[in-house]
Amino acid sequence: MPVLQVTDLDVAGKKVYVRVDFNVPLADDGTITDDTRLRAAVPTVQWLREHGAAVILAAHLGRPKGKAVAALSLQAVVAHLSELLGTPVQFATDCVGEEAKQKAAKLAAGEVLLLENVRFHAEETKNDPEFAKQLADLADLAVNDAFGVSHRAHASVVGVSEYLPMAAGLLLHEEIEHLDKAANDPKRPFVAIIGGAKVSDKIGVIQRFVELADTVIIGGGMANTFLLAQGYEIGTSLVEKDKLDVAQAVIKAAAQHQTKLLLPTDVVVAPEFSADATPTIVPVADVPVDQMILDSGPDTVAAYEAAIRDAATIVWNGPLGVFEFPAFAKGTQALAHAVAQSDAYSIVGGGDSVAAVTQSGVADQISHISTGGGASLEYLEGKPLPGIACLAQKKEGIDA
Ligand code: 3PG
Repeated sequence: MPVLQVTDLDVAGKKVYVRVDFNVPLADDGTITDDTRLRAAVPTVQWLREHGAAVILAAHLGRPKGKAVAALSLQAVVAHLSELLGTPVQFATDCVGEEAKQKAAKLAAGEVLLLENVRFHAEETKNDPEFAKQLADLADLAVNDAFGVSHRAHASVVGVSEYLPMAAGLLLHEEIEHLDKAANDPKRPFVAIIGGAKVSDKIGVIQRFVELADTVIIGGGMANTFLLAQGYEIGTSLVEKDKLDVAQAVIKAAAQHQTKLLLPTDVVVAPEFSADATPTIVPVADVPVDQMILDSGPDTVAAYEAAIRDAATIVWNGPLGVFEFPAFAKGTQALAHAVAQSDAYSIVGGGDSVAAVTQSGVADQISHISTGGGASLEYLEGKPLPGIACLAQKKEGIDA
């Protein structure tokens, strides 16, 4: 990557603003249910501390729509982050304003200050220049280590780079190195597995993979739209009727590019969307009119497993069924094991698929678990990510 890296910076005695992705899942009682994103930020923060910087962390949590929402306060991560870093993390109750300024000004080398949720200000998602300047004014240098938010042209991600030289953090760099292995010249056979509820969220990446991959597996709720497009009755299943033409175009494009498109051949149906609903396995041609598809069936999973066994590169984003209900999680769990057991270079991204590999206890057998959901899809699709495009270019003999 020709962009400036954090390791290129002379940070001793400087205050360094770091955009991190601390958008972690929280239980109703506010406890963190998956700390992957916090752990992923540790190497950059520690590198900066070890090299004499004072570290100012900016992040978002959820989508509070420009208002302070107590349940989305980043205070929730302070204690655990302090543990992970082995140092007490200070907290500013607003990301801009007097308190943030004073705490940032007093921050000594090796100390860490976390700013409150940047999305408590409507200016953040509007990439407001004045708001970005207020964030930038807290520091001398900036780093983007928030790969998961790099597809958002927001003030804390992109706007700050107008006022400070912004370098790539260690996590951002690592994510790009891994994703490039699949996005550019992947080892073949290349199998892309795209699941999740909606076709509309992933149209771009499906179209890209139909051109690039050898096999594209479509699973989860979005497969229903493909099944309907092929003329199957899908009962009361979730479907996007306005995306039938997209599904048909994908089916056609797959044939043109000689890409194998694998869709469910049998499914698990139930009378209602509920954890307690009774599951029944049926061929896709026999979905009852009053039942809905909630998981892939065993024949389908076996076909997916066979494709995965032969793969040299695998990218997986999105579950095969309603993974949060144990009765309908079997397809996704089986897939997690198959991907883990494969010798292929494997990349898993997206909250539910990452949760599936973690809960199945196979996370350490995956080549790369991306901290980005939407960001990794957009990157793989070939779209330039604003949070990467804004980074300062590396120059010979840089003295930032
Ligand atoms: C994510 O969770 O994928 C990132 O933190 C981005 O969050 P967003 O989709 O709310 O922008």
